[in-house]
Amino acid sequence: MRAAFFPGLFGLTALAETVVHDFPHLVIPLDSTAPDKAYNTQETFTISNLNWTAANWDVPSNGAIYCKIGFTINTDPQRGAPWNIWGVDDNEPYLINVAELPNDSIKKNTTYANQPKPLDNVATLAVYKSGYTNFTWSRPLVCQKGQVASFLLQPAEPQRQWDSGLSWYELDYPHGITYDMYVP
Ligand SMILES: *[C@@H]1O[C@H](CO)[C@@H](O)[C@H](O)[C@H]1NC(C)=O
Ligand SMILES: *[C@@H]1O[C@H](CO)[C@@H](O)[C@H](O)[C@H]1NC(C)=O
Ligand SMILES: *[C@@H]1O[C@H](CO)[C@@H](O)[C@H](O)[C@H]1NC(C)=O
Ligand SMILES: *[C@@H]1O[C@H](CO)[C@@H](O)[C@H](O)[C@H]1NC(C)=O
Repeated sequence: MRAAFFPGLFGLTALAETVVHDFPHLVIPLDSTAPDKAYNTQETFTISNLNWTAANWDVPSNGAIYCKIGFTINTDPQRGAPWNIWGVDDNEPYLINVAELPNDSIKKNTTYANQPKPLDNVATLAVYKSGYTNFTWSRPLVCQKGQVASFLLQPAEPQRQWDSGLSWYELDYPHGITYDMYVP
């Protein structure tokens, strides 16, 4: 949990919010080269043309007024958080779409072949070689309080970035993808 103070940011005179980072609890590789293989839960997300990843979040019930996907790469050398990006130039981000899936639709036995059909994209994430990340766009989520939220991560530009990819070992610093809840 982290307190963030952004006075005046949304045209309000003062706004003090706490951002609650909710971490994924089930991380399931979807491997197109082994479409029927169920990997069960893993610590590592891999996103490339051949490998996608889906995950579930146990969303707590709190006073959050809005929610959205968050993402961080922790580049502190003291921490040595594991991550890897390949197939991009220094100034070119690797682009990943985050798509909403039906609630609680990812299971231990979910595979590439039996994965649920995605609903809408909710964000496009840009990750640079330096570890700088941002969202080229992102929309607020309806906070799924007390529910299991499921999302799919897949390449946003598979034809152009066909040999690129990103992987990271999810850690709670945070380092990786989070379901962020904004509590006033
Ligand atoms: C996909 O991910 C799985 C699990 O991490 C790995 O064993 C496999 O080699 C990957 N496949 C490709 C094509 O990268
Ligand atoms: C999750 O379930 C709630 C109702 O329980 C529903 O309003 C919402 O649309 C569902 N969201 C998704 C992404 O399935
Ligand atoms: C996958 O696991 C769920 C329970 O988590 C079960 O309901 C479903 O039948 C299983 N599907 C397959 C194909 O084994
Ligand atoms: C995020 O990246 C886009 C380009 O993809 C850039 O236009 C925008 O300024 C960046 N946002 C921030 C906050 O750096």
